Amino acid sequence: MIAVSMEHPHVPHFSRRRRHAEKRYIRDRWAHFLSVDHRGFLTVEGVPVDRIVRKFGTPIYVMVEREIRRNFRRFKKVFGNDIKLQYAVKCNSNLEILRMAREEGFELDCASVGELILGLLADLKPRQLSYTNLYKTDQDLHFATKVGVQSITADSVEDLEHIAATAKKLRTQVRTVIRVNPMIDIRNYSTKGNKYGIPLKQVLKAVDIAAKSPFVDFRGFHFMGGYISSPWTLRAAARVLTKIIRDCQDKRIPIKTLSLGGGFPAAIGDQTAFPIEDLRSFPKYFRRLLEGARVTMPIQLIFEPGKSIVLNAGIGLMHVVANKEIHHFNRMIIADGSTYNFIPDALVQSNIHYDILPASKMFSPRVHKVTVGGNTCDCWDLITKGITMPKLEAGDILAAMDVGAYAQVLANNFNTIKRAAVVLIHEDGTFKQIRRRDRYSEMFAPELDVLKMADPNELERYNNLYRVNIDKIWKGQSRKNGKK
Ligand SMILES: Cc1ncc(COP(=O)(O)O)c(C=O)c1O
Repeated sequence: MIAVSMEHPHVPHFSRRRRHAEKRYIRDRWAHFLSVDHRGFLTVEGVPVDRIVRKFGTPIYVMVEREIRRNFRRFKKVFGNDIKLQYAVKCNSNLEILRMAREEGFELDCASVGELILGLLADLKPRQLSYTNLYKTDQDLHFATKVGVQSITADSVEDLEHIAATAKKLRTQVRTVIRVNPMIDIRNYSTKGNKYGIPLKQVLKAVDIAAKSPFVDFRGFHFMGGYISSPWTLRAAARVLTKIIRDCQDKRIPIKTLSLGGGFPAAIGDQTAFPIEDLRSFPKYFRRLLEGARVTMPIQLIFEPGKSIVLNAGIGLMHVVANKEIHHFNRMIIADGSTYNFIPDALVQSNIHYDILPASKMFSPRVHKVTVGGNTCDCWDLITKGITMPKLEAGDILAAMDVGAYAQVLANNFNTIKRAAVVLIHEDGTFKQIRRRDRYSEMFAPELDVLKMADPNELERYNNLYRVNIDKIWKGQSRKNGKK
């Protein structure tokens, strides 16, 4: 009885603190998978972040399965059978995510032979893989053609001629799509300076080349417009492309597909994104455009979303390793992740301000402004600047939010530092590693391999090092110091 009456008054007090913490730090878009435990630690699907970092070390990415599947399903629900959906592998190419894409009824948009191979490893059929980039080598084209991918996109007249010539050599027909730059200008959005696609005035010449080649099975058009901040962008592109499709019909050149690429928005920091539901009427709009232009050919629309599926599902956990008072109004928190090895987009896109949560101090109020510096020896390596944070010390955990896209795939080994592991967390709170940290032996292999070929004597010294197996020494060390 006493225990109950002692505990009871604490319950509302505790939940009030948690509610405050959630209000202060947790944005609505994460609220269905993030919470705070009684100690003030951030939890993901109910799992406190310190449990994850104790098991796998830091820095580490956590991908939230429920959020990824929710986004796949949202696209499916909005576009149903009207638009074919292809997940853009480039934004996060982890095999588990590609498998999820397959399970959720998505095909894949691949930007390289490497991504085609990943698609096959994730058990997609070659006809479920489209291959779109700016340039392909002979070997790339041989591979994609022999495997039998859904289509190959020509990004320039030269690329198209290369595809036709390779198909001729292989004595086969290649399903080919032409990427168009529609040269649109709409409000502050323009594709005029965009490197993607064949400029509008050259498109009909490219269509003629494709239609005349007996080795090109010309399927249709592709458009990729960069970041789509308004549904109007796609409508403007569709209007231009409908005119081209009409021209093709007049020349009796059948058009079967139109891909409008990716670029669908996803919220980051305090920037918002229009909901994908705002595009619900797009298929109807496109049908009306075709009718208005008296196009009678049935055209399959394709979308290739990337970051809008995975960006908000990614959390980057880091430890604070130092707190330096540079000046009374400028405190520098050093983390064990960086803008090179962990969150490279922070460096590439200077207008992005990631939310960094004090994951081990979620009940603590924000008290002062800090800059979060990465752990590499480079002064540009600042993960975020001027963010208000509680007092932090070495050992605290930080959570960088919205790092599910263009982080893991862009991360590099600058300073010869290993890239982080990735954990997938399920809705029931179980989690598993879906990518391990790099190994030194594989990081050095490209150089050791050529040394081996170049000069066996010179290699002797390195080889001795290699034979003692650097990774083994490292593992022994990390067992003593906790996993890294
Ligand atoms: C051809 C193509 N499709 C899809 C995408 C995916 O874009 P996002 O991740 O912005 O949706 C890209 C990104 O560059 C692309 O080049």
